[in-house]
Amino acid sequence: MQALKKQVSNSIFSVVSELYGVNDDLSSDIYMMLEYPPDRDMGDLALPCFKFARLFRKAPAAIASSIAERLSLPGIVEKVCAVNGYLNIYISGMYYANKVIPEILEKGSDYGKTDVGKGKTVVLDYSSPNICKPFHIGHLGTTVIGHSIKLLHEFAGYRCIGINYLGDWGTQFGKLITAYRLWGSREEVEKGGIDLLVDLYVKFHEEAEKDPSLNDTARGEFHKLEEGDVENTKLWKWFKEISLKEYEKTYRQLDITFDSYSGESFYVDKVPALAKILREKGILKVDDGASVIDLSEYNMPPCLIFKKDGSTIYHARDIAAAVYRKETYDFDKCIYVTSSQQSLHFAQWFKVVELMGYDWYHRLVHVPYGTISVNGVKLSTRHGNVLLLRDVFAAAIEKVTEVINEKNPDLENKQETAEAVGVGAVIFYYLLNSRIKDSSFSMDEALSFEGNTGPYAQYTYARTCSILSKAEKTESTNIVLSAPEESEIVKTLSRFSEVTQKALNEYEPSYITRYILDICTAFNRFYHECPILSVENESIRTTRIAITKAVKTVLGSALHLICLKTPEKI
Ligand code: ARG
Repeated sequence: MQALKKQVSNSIFSVVSELYGVNDDLSSDIYMMLEYPPDRDMGDLALPCFKFARLFRKAPAAIASSIAERLSLPGIVEKVCAVNGYLNIYISGMYYANKVIPEILEKGSDYGKTDVGKGKTVVLDYSSPNICKPFHIGHLGTTVIGHSIKLLHEFAGYRCIGINYLGDWGTQFGKLITAYRLWGSREEVEKGGIDLLVDLYVKFHEEAEKDPSLNDTARGEFHKLEEGDVENTKLWKWFKEISLKEYEKTYRQLDITFDSYSGESFYVDKVPALAKILREKGILKVDDGASVIDLSEYNMPPCLIFKKDGSTIYHARDIAAAVYRKETYDFDKCIYVTSSQQSLHFAQWFKVVELMGYDWYHRLVHVPYGTISVNGVKLSTRHGNVLLLRDVFAAAIEKVTEVINEKNPDLENKQETAEAVGVGAVIFYYLLNSRIKDSSFSMDEALSFEGNTGPYAQYTYARTCSILSKAEKTESTNIVLSAPEESEIVKTLSRFSEVTQKALNEYEPSYITRYILDICTAFNRFYHECPILSVENESIRTTRIAITKAVKTVLGSALHLICLKTPEKI
């Protein structure tokens, strides 16, 4: 709809030039100033005239009325009103319908795509769990926000590389190896999987409280692992396999795959080369035995590269990984999606990349999201306040299954559908919030299927499918709008591309979630007010079928962009 905005702004520009004299810069200013009013009653486009007051030496209200009197774009602008210094412009529903409906029907799932990213590569680092622990509710953020941002980039034509940067290195593996040798057994771990690894890890901490020498043992085991000890390496690899097997289940439910699982361990041997460059640049200092980079000039604490004992740390591995990714993928952007608690971490090492003289430092983007608590209580593994993602999904699936059994017991693919709707409910609930806001997860709210929820959106999609399955096959191009509800939908659908671009530019999937609700509200209003298949008049009927098909297409694309599946029957 940028074309429409351009047409309207050109027309306003001509009127303004006629009224007040020509100023060429104004043409692009007007385009930028045109906004979409929050409420449809205020028109489809609005121009605030306050900025003009000084320029034209007139009151904004007077300027708005003068423009309103003269602005005319037959076939496009239906009505113009001047209200409190704003110029409210109402676009004809037919204009939208004739542009939007044929385009959606022709392009199908390509509708709304752009090629702004053509020829560009984006690396996305997301989900990235610390292995040997199952996903908890806190992982929902990085996983679904990250994946949605990836899908939005693909939608805009970028080549995307999704990386699961597993947290698979650090002293905790020394602890786990120690605990396994002392209290674990192969059979038990094989049977108990990741949960047993957690139990061993917890037991380690309990026992180490009583006997601190266990910490030295663990450090020793980790050191052996670092040195490539065969037995420890075998154990570590095994723990990693167990973890991945567990994560795969969740990724399958979410339909997420990664291009790479190279985690932290992959970069350990790349840190010495990095340290060499840092030393040559004169920025690596030895402080109390550790190697650090002073960042006080930038108001940040020092960035640690090597600990006293020579082992690498999180920052160092991240820098090595960024250099490796730049060399491997030659990215235009490398995006990291993590909780805002890690903002300082990223700010620190991004600065180090800059100090190293890499001109691509500004291509590193940290996308933070707010912390998630459960019913307002902070999550804490130590205090037993954890909510496992698989339990949340299972509860949601169970609830959906109950509803299906009650309302549609003969549904085919019941299990698959229940999974799509249950998991979708949780994702939708979460992605309704703007990313950066801290959020409190409530199981009751996530599993409430009333109102603005995922099941409501998926059900609306299924409703379009059901109507279309009964409709005659028609590709109406003779569009006749006969009800305001129809105009409302086509206007909503016309915004799709702009919404996806805004969501991409601001890394904000919640714009898509909210937009989905706009489509659903508009469609359900239309559905209740306007008979579709039973209308006598053929043009009206085929138009309504075409509208339904367009809604199905755009709603389907939008749901996919926020990681929701689209069952045709629920
Ligand atoms: N494994 C980390 C965690 O669970 C997140 C990793 C994020 N990515 C990165 N490149 N640092 O907190």
